[in-house]
Amino acid sequence: MARQESAYYEPEGVGRATRRANRRSSYTVQRTPKADAPDGTETGAPSPRRRLRLLVDKHRATTRVLRVAYPFLAEGGLGADGTYIGSDVFSGGSFVYDPWVLYQGRVITNPNVLLAGVIGSGKSSTAKALITRSVALGHKAYVPCDPKGEWTPVATAMGGAVIKLGPGLPTRLNPLDAGGQPSTVDAEEWERIVWSRRRALLGTLAESTLGRPLAAVEHTALDLALETVSRQVAQPTIPDVVVALFTPDSDRAERAGLRTSNLTADGREVAHAIRRLVHGDLSGMFDGPSTTEFDPTLPMVTLDSSWLGNGGNDQALRLTLACASSWLEAAVADPAGGNRYIVYDEGWRVMRDPALLRRMQEQWKLSRAWGVSNILIVHRLSDLAAVGDLGSEARALAEGLLADCSTRIMLRQEPDQLERTASLLGLTDVEIATIAKLPKGRALWRLPNRSFVVQLVRHAREVELFDTDARM
Ligand SMILES: Nc1ncnc2c1ncn2[C@@H]1O[C@H](COP(=O)(O)OP(=O)(O)OP(=O)(O)O)[C@@H](O)[C@H]1O
Ligand SMILES: [Mg+2]
Repeated sequence: MARQESAYYEPEGVGRATRRANRRSSYTVQRTPKADAPDGTETGAPSPRRRLRLLVDKHRATTRVLRVAYPFLAEGGLGADGTYIGSDVFSGGSFVYDPWVLYQGRVITNPNVLLAGVIGSGKSSTAKALITRSVALGHKAYVPCDPKGEWTPVATAMGGAVIKLGPGLPTRLNPLDAGGQPSTVDAEEWERIVWSRRRALLGTLAESTLGRPLAAVEHTALDLALETVSRQVAQPTIPDVVVALFTPDSDRAERAGLRTSNLTADGREVAHAIRRLVHGDLSGMFDGPSTTEFDPTLPMVTLDSSWLGNGGNDQALRLTLACASSWLEAAVADPAGGNRYIVYDEGWRVMRDPALLRRMQEQWKLSRAWGVSNILIVHRLSDLAAVGDLGSEARALAEGLLADCSTRIMLRQEPDQLERTASLLGLTDVEIATIAKLPKGRALWRLPNRSFVVQLVRHAREVELFDTDARM
């Protein structure tokens, strides 16, 4: 065998000098440009065996340690059980997600999802893709907060129902509806559940409109008014409660150790606050028996509140969400109802209200018991901080919601938001650099100790259905 071929084969006993010479000759062979076309034209393709100098110091560690510095490459994926979202940008494999499967597998500690990204980055499209594709798995979705009405075509295409709410529209919901009694709950407990739901809603409406927490005497006035109407009628409405607040029952007042005139005075402000739903700008929406029934067999139910106007009337939107979600809760609170998503699109518009936040947090704490995954959509994480000063109740509640979301989906963030996002989510430098450059529809999916960059892949029909640029 010719001696020059021995660069790749060295018989035993070859000396060190010969081995070195062989290695050198092998490098020379590899450096010769080989990837060019036969006619010598440069194709630009590098020689496949060309060696590049390593720019970093050599380092050896286990993948368990290395994934902290560079989380993506050492990732094995979330498995194939769930809804296809798109492709994992680093591995090229399919990315599949299902909060209930991951909760059962103890990958996440709760099924709630936070979605954040700049305007038009693809937040709603990501949520719509996740939800519409999950319908095939038997999951259902309810959207109590849709201020742009953009979920209407999606729900219609999925065979769901759209409830249009707005001043002057024929649909009316009674937020004090009891809903269907779950088979697992006995009559006495059901009565207590319904009472506390009604009471919580009335408190939220009063506090939200007054812009302050209720005083102790106001709570008493509200308790007594609700007790009165609950004894009088089977399905109380908001106007019934307003009447009971303005004209309290004298026997009940006496039993509570109060004079009727004092109780009337104590409950006056609360009565006027709740009256806004009866005679104010929101009249006709929540002030009588429901004109529609909730059908729990439908794959999707959305509440289109675009008729309230997009002109920034966030107070009206918040009251609508409080009433609509209470009405929805009456139907959703059955643990036997299957896996359900509840979506708060444009969630940042309703978050500046401690009363509503408190209620949302109470509902979220029950999400696991009900089989519900809440999806909160905001622009940036500082939306959570903007709800109140550091140390305020509202701020603590909003940040508590973040803590209650095991899955955080980050689409592109503005440069001035990166530091805050990193500190709130505990992101590495690599993850932050990734978020800053994400194109439309690509997101960092952050789960406890896991991280993925996922490109949403849409079907042509979905592109059409999820389009929100049509009016541009
Ligand atoms: N993966 C994607 N690739 C290309 N375009 C996309 C992708 N995802 C969404 N888009 C397009 O970007 C536009 C905005 O998307 P979408 O409404 O989901 O964004 P958004 O973040 O919810 O916006 P907003 O902040 O206004 O609510 C839509 O018209 C949509 O078709
Ligand atoms: Mg959107």
